[in-house]
Amino acid sequence: TVQNYKMELLGIDIGGSGIKAAIVDVEKGELISERHRIPTPRPAVPEAIVEVIAEMVAHFDWKGAVGVCFPTVVVDGKALSKSNMDAAWLNFQVDQYFQERCDLPFYVVNDADAAAMAEMKFGAGREKNGVVIVITVGTGLGSGVFHDGKLLPNIELGHVFGVDGKPIEHYAADSARKREGLKFKEWAKRFDFFLHHVIRVFRPDTFIIGGGTSKKMDKFQQHLTIDVPIYAAEKLNNAGIIGAAMFANEAHH
Ligand code: BGC
Repeated sequence: TVQNYKMELLGIDIGGSGIKAAIVDVEKGELISERHRIPTPRPAVPEAIVEVIAEMVAHFDWKGAVGVCFPTVVVDGKALSKSNMDAAWLNFQVDQYFQERCDLPFYVVNDADAAAMAEMKFGAGREKNGVVIVITVGTGLGSGVFHDGKLLPNIELGHVFGVDGKPIEHYAADSARKREGLKFKEWAKRFDFFLHHVIRVFRPDTFIIGGGTSKKMDKFQQHLTIDVPIYAAEKLNNAGIIGAAMFANEAHH
């Protein structure tokens, strides 16, 4: 088959628990292959992660540009925080490292920014103007902040300090719900506290909730007391993969 590099790219989503990849049609914002998932190696050091990346490239027999979304602050392909990954990633040039191992062009972007870009273009954020904040709820609390469709990159709302002086994601992410065995109603109170905090600072017009938890909105939405409209992401768990491929497409062409 003839591969059209302009429309099809490999997207890889590196998360705290799993690494997921698929081939993406970036014009339609859809996966055009099955999704392949490999558990995130622990410790999540560069030497271990890069082998999973190479395995993904081999699995899809991929020969073009690759977009990767990564759960840290990323500027020009370099990780500027470690967040829930290994400390070895701090100030690490991620794109170059993957590129040297696989001999393909790599483009790396923050995971929440990638998922949020996919939602804005192809999902719940379509045609939503003003200030839109996408929150991804998973191992951490990721955020993508937009004004009239334009992203302000690397905003880390999950790193605001909570009442205990620790990043609020330790208290209000989905990992806290699981770790502490909270009922959705109990967890929702925490998430609600976080959203109120975000409203005090940003006054968004719209919230979009992404990450794995977006599938469970019916279990907690009724417990939220905010007055800003809130929507579930439509691309669910695929948003990161799609956004990573979109980012690579824009950077590559
Ligand atoms: C990281 C963010 C990331 C979020 C979701 C946080 O711990 O600091 O960069 O977007 O988790 O994975």
